[in-house]
Amino acid sequence: MNFNNNKNLPCISSYIDGKFLKYNPLEKGEIISPESNETIAYFSSLSRKDVENCYRKADNAFNSWKLLNPTVRIKYIEKFNKHLEENIETIALAISKCIAKPINAAREEVVRSINMINDLIIEYQNSFINPIIFDEESSGIKNKKGIWKYVPLGVVLAIAPFNYPLNLLISKIIPALLTGNTVVFKSSTQTLTIGYLVIQCFEKINLPNGVINFVVGNGIDLGDALIENEKIKLLNFTGGTETGKYLASHLPFQAIKVLELGGLDPCIVTKNNNKGQIIDIAKEIVKGAFTFSGQRCTAIKRVILIKENKEYNKQLVKEIVNQSTKLIVGSSYSDAFITALVDKKAVERVKKLYQNAVKKGAEPLLEFKNYNNVVHPIILDNVTEKMQIYSTEAFGPILPIIYAEDVLDAIRIANDTDYGLQASIFTNKESEFNQIANLIESGSVNWNKSSSRGPDVFPFIGIKNSGYNVQGIYYSLFTTVRLKGFIENKK
Ligand code: G3H
Repeated sequence: MNFNNNKNLPCISSYIDGKFLKYNPLEKGEIISPESNETIAYFSSLSRKDVENCYRKADNAFNSWKLLNPTVRIKYIEKFNKHLEENIETIALAISKCIAKPINAAREEVVRSINMINDLIIEYQNSFINPIIFDEESSGIKNKKGIWKYVPLGVVLAIAPFNYPLNLLISKIIPALLTGNTVVFKSSTQTLTIGYLVIQCFEKINLPNGVINFVVGNGIDLGDALIENEKIKLLNFTGGTETGKYLASHLPFQAIKVLELGGLDPCIVTKNNNKGQIIDIAKEIVKGAFTFSGQRCTAIKRVILIKENKEYNKQLVKEIVNQSTKLIVGSSYSDAFITALVDKKAVERVKKLYQNAVKKGAEPLLEFKNYNNVVHPIILDNVTEKMQIYSTEAFGPILPIIYAEDVLDAIRIANDTDYGLQASIFTNKESEFNQIANLIESGSVNWNKSSSRGPDVFPFIGIKNSGYNVQGIYYSLFTTVRLKGFIENKK
């Protein structure tokens, strides 16, 4: 690491074509800890000219990387994974430091990423190395043999968000590299230290120059140079819907897009639940809503209850409030459940949504309360469509409760959003789950559990404004290749 400043803090610069660019103190930005408000690192942005150079180098490297024997590429990735394994604690501590993720969740993120790499290698070996053959034996074709190979696309641009700064980088970079693409990646500014640790692990394995490149800079500074480059053949982006839409609309015409965007995941509880289950259902809802202080695209962001189950609802809501007040609020290093939001802007956003809802008649069962960037869990009862929180993703610890006339109305409310990531339904009746799930507009629907992305082998899909294309172990590999036919013609 470069520590060229008097506070002995890391100074992060871009890594292009196998070299770190010179850190430029005149172009300096700083990263602030959400917990202590202190500076934790500095970074210098690269220029637009450097961005263009980066794509050129990545494109040059593609010519030979794509031709390597797959086993050679696998060996590189295995070596990289070893470096991650040796640095679990360092990376986990760095994750906690830059985004206040509870330390055990940060450790889990690193381990999950290591396991994901192992699964990707196995899936690559099983499903993408051997070509698909169409011949007499397979398809009855007499005078031709079609050998269809999975070939890489070219340069992949990977952009990861702050909330899973390692996992959502790995899920983009590793499939692309395994299948023979070269990569330009960008971490969110807040988590540049994680991108930096990742690129240092790559540096240690001596990948050919240009195969992996790390661009450092604010999206605003880099501007359209990052996205408007003809060499980009695939954009894999996780982040906010507006940014995702902007990037996708500025991509070169032939580039493929994989977008994982926001969510407003509904959770419907029907009358077909026993009183004895209230504690467990409340537990799932609280976990779904408040894990990592609600900063997950898959968090439960709306609870929808059916009006006629008055007594049951009352007890369930009481239990949700009861369990939420027991969540430990504190520091990431002490592994508190609720920790600081990523920055002051996030706190302001939650506060404004809270104030707007209360002004318009929502009943705060748990009020907005904060110290520094830490916001305690908030529960708003009787939320209606007049309130911003009804249709806005808060990305914070705020849970609205909405009442529907009946199950059909609950489905209408669940779908009354531009988002469509996941949903959860609590009912003891499988038939009821299936009926509702069929009508919910989302990538997946969870039965009696809160929404979540994993296990990583599952296809992960967002519809409407929640995303485009599919992720998951197999599909993340699949989106990085195209089929190319080698046709043998027989006489
Ligand atoms: O924030 C988006 C993540 O992909 C959600 O992942 O459901 O495992 O928390 P998760």
